Amino acid sequence: MIELICGDCLKHLDKLQEKYSDRDIILVSDVPFNIGYGYASYKDRLPQDEYLKMLQDVFDRGVPFVIIHYPESLYSIASFLHKSPTRVCSWVYNSNTGRQHRDVAFFDVKPDFAQVGQPYKNLKDKRIIKRIKEGKTCKLYDWWNINQVKNVSKEKTAHPCQMPLEVMKNIVGLLPKGSLIIDPFMGSGTTGVACKELGYDFVGIEIDEGYFEISKERIEDGTW
Ligand SMILES: C[S@@+](CC[C@H](N)C(=O)[O-])C[C@H]1O[C@@H](n2cnc3c(N)ncnc32)[C@H](O)[C@@H]1O
Repeated sequence: MIELICGDCLKHLDKLQEKYSDRDIILVSDVPFNIGYGYASYKDRLPQDEYLKMLQDVFDRGVPFVIIHYPESLYSIASFLHKSPTRVCSWVYNSNTGRQHRDVAFFDVKPDFAQVGQPYKNLKDKRIIKRIKEGKTCKLYDWWNINQVKNVSKEKTAHPCQMPLEVMKNIVGLLPKGSLIIDPFMGSGTTGVACKELGYDFVGIEIDEGYFEISKERIEDGTW
């Protein structure tokens, strides 16, 4: 099941919670950073207290949620919401800027690392050779080195801060099977593509019409 909505998430989330009250909803989002990012229509520069209040209105609604952000912003959000994450993972990437990692904080849900396999790191270790022979896979660790989406990347759309599909697949893949994933700040729809590929139901909301069309094309038509 996939439902895509063009609009302000704050106007839709109450109704969606009512509509899907029989489902285990998890909000998963790479939220606006509030650093004056050059989005097409959304102005990414709220006073800090308004920004935190806006995130509180979106996420503090009695369901589990996962937020991707810079670490210090995650501390501020967690402190504002009076909540501690159950687990935090790091997404690390090479870049020419001072920022080389973002964190993924899981709130009120325990990610199951055994659900996502990754290649073993030490292929010469006898124990690993034995495990590979036995057909055992390596569970995902909590530090992911994955390139950012670059202009030359195959998956690149016109959205200025698209998440790599691999990062979103790691996150979604750690969540309980059968959950309904809602991304209130959908952007180009990467969370939706990850959900579709991994077989999770998905609802996405995006305020900008141009980005909404990109996400619709990526998720519904499979053009990614
Ligand atoms: C960090 S981007 C998400 C990028 C996305 N993860 C991707 O891979 O493309 C945040 C998005 O939130 C959208 N946005 C901002 N405020 C919103 C609101 N109130 N409701 C819905 N979308 C909103 C912005 O237009 C922007 O596309």
